Amino acid sequence: MKDFVPVNEPLLDGNEKQYLTECIDTGWISSEGPFVTRLEEEFAARVGRKHGVAVCNGTAALECAIAALAIPAGSEVILPTFTIISCASAILRAGAIPVVVDCDPVSWNMRADQIEERITPRTKAIMVVHIYGLPVDLDPILGLASARGLKIIEDSAELHGASYHGKPCGSFGDISAFSFYPNKHVTAGEGGIVVTNDDALAERCRSLRNLCFQAGKRFVHEELGWNWRMSNLQAAVAVAQLERLDEFTARKKQMGRLYRELLGGVPGIEFQPERTPFAENINWVFGLVLDSSIPFDAVEAMRRLAGLNVQTRPFFWPMHEQPVLRRMGLFAGESHPAAERLARRGFYLPSGMALTAAQIDRVTAAVRQVLP
Ligand SMILES: Cc1ncc(COP(=O)(O)O)c(C=O)c1O
Repeated sequence: MKDFVPVNEPLLDGNEKQYLTECIDTGWISSEGPFVTRLEEEFAARVGRKHGVAVCNGTAALECAIAALAIPAGSEVILPTFTIISCASAILRAGAIPVVVDCDPVSWNMRADQIEERITPRTKAIMVVHIYGLPVDLDPILGLASARGLKIIEDSAELHGASYHGKPCGSFGDISAFSFYPNKHVTAGEGGIVVTNDDALAERCRSLRNLCFQAGKRFVHEELGWNWRMSNLQAAVAVAQLERLDEFTARKKQMGRLYRELLGGVPGIEFQPERTPFAENINWVFGLVLDSSIPFDAVEAMRRLAGLNVQTRPFFWPMHEQPVLRRMGLFAGESHPAAERLARRGFYLPSGMALTAAQIDRVTAAVRQVLP
């Protein structure tokens, strides 16, 4: 059996070790350490925002962002059904109601016209989620939000280094969130960050992530917060990774080019577009969708690839088909065919930062072998 190709392997051969050693040597390992502030400042500057608030993961970043907006209980927040559970759970934990839209069958992203159809007098915000490396077409959504007085929470968890009309993803929401999980273009092991230009929102995020301790009376609380703090160790790794974001983004674009080139002529498979009139795909992950000519689904394709030692991951399962959310009485009778098709027919190939051209060759040969 040929060498195993993992679905993700990060690259940690920059300054990560040196910065971690600095943490150990100085004793600064908690969230009070200097790498946390450095990460917040450098990351915010990188995405053109005034403030960055580092937290312990991307899910916490979304929860913190929406909690800071203080949306009234029972408000509706529109999000794509084709996303990770973190988006719906953040909305629910903020006391709001998730309202989902289908995605575009070609871009796999949510569209403004789908959002517009679901706006009601109770809608207070739109959670825009960029999927798998291709930015959402933001201008029509931002126009809609401003015309209807809706807040934008931008989930840019997967889109480090991407831009829309030349402006960084993460700079469009009233408040935006990123993840630093190891499959992201910048990792901290575990981590996330909230970015915003709004002084009050940033201050509120800082308080919420740190148990709402008060400056004067530390252990007297007016509000309940969370412990969402990021350690200096995590921030040290993220700072070293951020130094290489341009190189990492170029690497992943090259990965996408190679996959598209080597799989381009294979019948029965679809990919997310490499570019749109407004953005370039940064290929957070490289996904495939089996069209109706393939007589089996993603589960079977993934099983066959696993047999050839190629690790893959399924696509997101839509929010409107989540048992836990259906049991809450949400999304009764809803059907969103584009997302349902992606969930059943889509999966992604090895896409980590350390992936080599030789591994891509091997993966694409395996894909050709398992397809009829
Ligand atoms: C779109 C999106 N939002 C949020 C998250 C949550 O980030 P984390 O895994 O760091 O909690 C992810 C994770 O991959 C994601 O893809």
